[in-house]
Amino acid sequence: MRLTAEERAMLEGAEGPTVRKAMQIVVALGEIYDAVELVAVGSAQIAGVSYKNLGEAGLEFLEEWATQGTCTRVPAFANPAGMDLQRWREMGIPSEFARQQQRVVNALASMGVLLTCTCTPYLVGHVPRAGEHLAWGESSAVSFANSVLAARTNREGGPSALAAAITGRTAAYGLHLTEKRRPTHRIQVRCPLPNEADYGALGYLVGRQVGDGVPYFQLLAESPREVPAPAASTFGGSRSREESSLRRPTQEQLMALGAAMGASGAVALHHIEGVTPEAAQWAGLAGRSGSRSSTASVQACGAAADASSDPELIEIAIDSLEEGYAALNSPLDEIDFVSLGCPHSTLGDMQRAAALLDGHRVKATLWITTSRGVRETAERQGLVARIEAAGGRVFADTCLVVAPVEDLGFKAMATNSAKAAFYAPGHSGLPRRFGTLQQCIRAAIKGRWAGRDSRGLA
Ligand code: F3S
Repeated sequence: MRLTAEERAMLEGAEGPTVRKAMQIVVALGEIYDAVELVAVGSAQIAGVSYKNLGEAGLEFLEEWATQGTCTRVPAFANPAGMDLQRWREMGIPSEFARQQQRVVNALASMGVLLTCTCTPYLVGHVPRAGEHLAWGESSAVSFANSVLAARTNREGGPSALAAAITGRTAAYGLHLTEKRRPTHRIQVRCPLPNEADYGALGYLVGRQVGDGVPYFQLLAESPREVPAPAASTFGGSRSREESSLRRPTQEQLMALGAAMGASGAVALHHIEGVTPEAAQWAGLAGRSGSRSSTASVQACGAAADASSDPELIEIAIDSLEEGYAALNSPLDEIDFVSLGCPHSTLGDMQRAAALLDGHRVKATLWITTSRGVRETAERQGLVARIEAAGGRVFADTCLVVAPVEDLGFKAMATNSAKAAFYAPGHSGLPRRFGTLQQCIRAAIKGRWAGRDSRGLA
């Protein structure tokens, strides 16, 4: 592998044993994946922060690096920890777990890792530039950075992201290379997607089928808004007349889609025609919307070898999300725990939750998890007070999946996140219901899951 003089010096120990060790990790990965060079990264996002996932071995690894005076040389952000670092007692976290978790964040902080403790660093000021190389670790953050922001990152493991933060380099392979960002599947979505749960269900179905591929979405059905959402932002450039009747996904819907595909599959990049910034570059390859000649050869939610534009592009048509909803819903009615905020809640989500909770009192435990930065803004806005007046709790720094929820005595949960619904049985030992934010808030108020609501929303 080609190394610059500075990189070679790091590898030879000129900057001390920890930098050498970090560079050894970066170079070893590059050799495994046949990289010809390293690239400078603008930032790193360190996953594997929760003590629940790290355990003693992970904690010892971090403390060993921390005691050697290791320091990051590019901005590095921590992923969610296993608890709200300030309100962990209210979550019911055992004090021994809290003590070990605190040691983890102390070790990271002493190396210069910023304790953002979120999977949405882009919501708290850390927005990468298009084309910027990164070493991010959490799958939904990686998906958002690659797909929506057009930055370039593979999904890094905890040690490799830390090594990138320490050296400022990562190996140039995978999604750092333009040719690896080429679509592998064309996904024609022929059913409407009015809410974030639908995007999650879609992501679940697609991730399961494409694995680590690069899906190119064509959203072909008109999707009316379910409720006015003034705080929800949209992405995408100017639209053609043909596309003008299609609504652009909101930021929250894009987050739900990417998170779900990273959970049921290993999708780290996708393109959405007319929406995501790199989609236009591949439009010729994927063909224009509706140009496929043989609809009969494509099964709903199935793959077929009908490649109208590129013989290597696998076609998938999605006509219904029912299979996704069925897979992510356990048959249960009583709900004692509702978890929102996977990926971490936006201000828009909290605004919607507060409005739905006004004048009510929850029967089930309700957690809304978010970054500390977003929580502080929500607090200033009065949203936290409104949610907590109804009995809900807005926790920062953590989430359902990385907190030790299995030890907190809950029996059945509800969530509006396909990713959380995918992981809940295995990671938290909980059967779950999956649906819209409205359905989840109603379940929190009633302590029961209900079917479609009065507006007919799924
Ligand atoms: Fe984020 Fe935790 Fe979900 S890290 S994407 S809130 S599992």
